[in-house]
Amino acid sequence: MDRILVRGNGPLDGTIEISGAKNACLTLMPATLLTEEPLTLTNAPRLSDIRTMSTLLQSLGAEVSGLANGRVLAMSSHNIDTLTADYDIVRKMRASILVLGPMLARFGSAVVSLPGGCAIGARPVDLHLKALEAMGADLELRDGYVHAKAPTGGLRGARIAFPFASVGATENALMAATLAKGTTIIENAAREPEIADLADCLTKMGAHIDGAGTSTITIEGVDRLGGATHPVVADRIELGTYMLAPAIAGGSVELLGGTRALVAAFADKLEATGVEITETDKGLRVARNGERARAVDVVTEPFPGFPTDLQAQMMALMCTAQGTAVLEEKIFENRFMHAPELIRMGASIDVHGGTATVTGVEQLRGAPVMATDLRASVSLILAGLAAEGETVVSRVYHLDRGYERLEQKLGACGANIERISDDD
Ligand code: EPZ
Repeated sequence: MDRILVRGNGPLDGTIEISGAKNACLTLMPATLLTEEPLTLTNAPRLSDIRTMSTLLQSLGAEVSGLANGRVLAMSSHNIDTLTADYDIVRKMRASILVLGPMLARFGSAVVSLPGGCAIGARPVDLHLKALEAMGADLELRDGYVHAKAPTGGLRGARIAFPFASVGATENALMAATLAKGTTIIENAAREPEIADLADCLTKMGAHIDGAGTSTITIEGVDRLGGATHPVVADRIELGTYMLAPAIAGGSVELLGGTRALVAAFADKLEATGVEITETDKGLRVARNGERARAVDVVTEPFPGFPTDLQAQMMALMCTAQGTAVLEEKIFENRFMHAPELIRMGASIDVHGGTATVTGVEQLRGAPVMATDLRASVSLILAGLAAEGETVVSRVYHLDRGYERLEQKLGACGANIERISDDD
């Protein structure tokens, strides 16, 4: 298994290109199942999660090609052979549940494995299932699988009021509703930019959607959807992660393709720590010179609030900030697994339930540490940029799920970082 070696190396200077969003791509890909015509995604990120979704779609009979040669993913679901999404693939990635709504809407039935547990929380899929039931689907949980059937004549438009603005449940309901009979209104819908991106793509495919990106989405079902070509929106979590690199190591980095609107709540917090953010012709420039960052408190919330997917990385900055910061995690119940690893690097962190209190220390020290999930692993790498000596992060397969060419991107800004393969 690969490891990543980081040596704290002083200020960074350079540019980083932001890739297409993993989490947008993972919901745009299942949209291919809604149509027999080709769906092409440009600006797709080259990540292991995207390969897992390709494998899942291919296992259903879809054709998926292109990523190895560039950023274009060409998909066709003209010939679907099976409507069963197997446990062996689904268990690798929870986003697999996103094939359920599209298959049910187009083919009238689907059998999808339940994803199972996850390192950051229980992550049930009850809201996905309730939304589909509201559209008339008959669901049965048997042998670890959801067996879903649409009523005769297909799914029906419905009013769906989510008790919590779930990203995935909104995506599943939105995709299913595009082919349902009549009008669907999703209330308390998630407002993440990935939802608006999905709605843009579905609209190009012929769907009638209003209000995506707000908390009420209205969808008029259509009889069929066609093909489209769609660029994947920029990855706001990758953007926020690399904005933290100069914030932690010092220096100045320009993030090409980043916009402030994608990370507004996070950018406000980062500025409150004393980091400078300026908009440039090509993206955002982030700089911290001299002074230690100041501690700021953070509460994670659904978009447009501070994203849970940047909490671990923000904690890495707070580890060396001046003062004490309180970080409250409100989305997932077990998302502080990076804290014990950061403590191994000399950080002072106290975790009680969903709250972590971090008192900044002047200097972190490199240590061997272990990645537990995607965002936790990158927080350890960020911390390593500011640590004295060597940090070796193991289990970097978590990192490869969501960060494309991380060593090259940070290396190009002067970071001392390398991947050690077992064969080295
Ligand atoms: C998406 O997960 C992202 N994944 C996550 O990205 C992200 O952390 C999360 O949204 C929140 O922003 C993808 O887009 C592929 P949710 P999702 O449904 O859709 C509870 C990353 O690092 N819930 O909004 O699974 C759930 O347990 C990650 O890239 C239910 O109770 O998130 C959680 O506590 C990991 N029942 C909360 O809602 C449900 O049916 C938010 O989950 C669904 C969710």
